[in-house]
Amino acid sequence: MDIQYSPATVGYARDMCDCGRRAFENDLLDHALFPRHLQDVTNEEAIYKFRLERIRKRLENPRWRYLLATTDSGDGRPKVVGYSGWLAPLKGSEQDVNLARNQDEPEAKPEDTEDFPPGLDVDVYKHVMKIIEDTKKEILGKDENNVWNLASLAVDPDFNGRRIASNLVKWGLDQADEDQLPAYLESTPAAVGVYKRSGFKALKKLKVIKDNETHLLTVMIRKPN
Ligand SMILES: CC(C)(COP(=O)(O)OP(=O)(O)OC[C@H]1O[C@@H](n2cnc3c(N)ncnc32)[C@H](O)[C@@H]1OP(=O)(O)O)[C@@H](O)C(=O)NCCC(=O)NCCS
Repeated sequence: MDIQYSPATVGYARDMCDCGRRAFENDLLDHALFPRHLQDVTNEEAIYKFRLERIRKRLENPRWRYLLATTDSGDGRPKVVGYSGWLAPLKGSEQDVNLARNQDEPEAKPEDTEDFPPGLDVDVYKHVMKIIEDTKKEILGKDENNVWNLASLAVDPDFNGRRIASNLVKWGLDQADEDQLPAYLESTPAAVGVYKRSGFKALKKLKVIKDNETHLLTVMIRKPN
């Protein structure tokens, strides 16, 4: 089956949401953030809307680069079978503006700006985000925004094992090589092998859930070629 790769557009936000939902069905961190006992038909739609809005907002922001993997569905509309979401580095003057703004007026944290959907365990979310952000600062320091950050990767389980994830990752790594910048990410247990094969090295394993000894995320970095 032929897989096509192309930049994502807002028109595909819903398809991406559906693909992401299927891909993360068995992800333990997703279960901790959205505990299944809090999920029911009354909040299913609100959670879906929250995820959809987040993807839409990102697709409208030029710093976010989403790549789609699609296949011919037979009905004229390509079927989304995977996507990767990269936060591109802040460069040159953009970075200067950001630094100046950070000195005057700190950038709002996600928890100040987002509406949380019912069904999200907000304490777990804030705890996870704090560990992720602190670790990024600790590892990258002043170069925090000077990396290609892979923030999102999902492949429809029906299409696993066809190197779709590897190809989606390669696209961003080519950009990082062109810019001569590192690529950085926090990996789920399922994706560590894909990233290792793509040239990433594991730097640190994170326990992101209070009172839980499981390392649900692995911080990984890849130097440019
Ligand atoms: C982890 C994930 C991205 C992998 O996607 P994928 O397209 O199956 O990955 P690839 O095909 O590029 O590579 C997967 C590797 O594992 C193997 N593999 C993975 N799932 C497989 C399956 N169901 N059947 C056979 N092989 C499988 C492949 O052989 C391949 O190994 P190789 O590179 O040595 O040949 C996908 O399973 C996923 O979306 N998982 C849930 C969400 C997630 O964890 N995202 C990562 C966020 S950091």
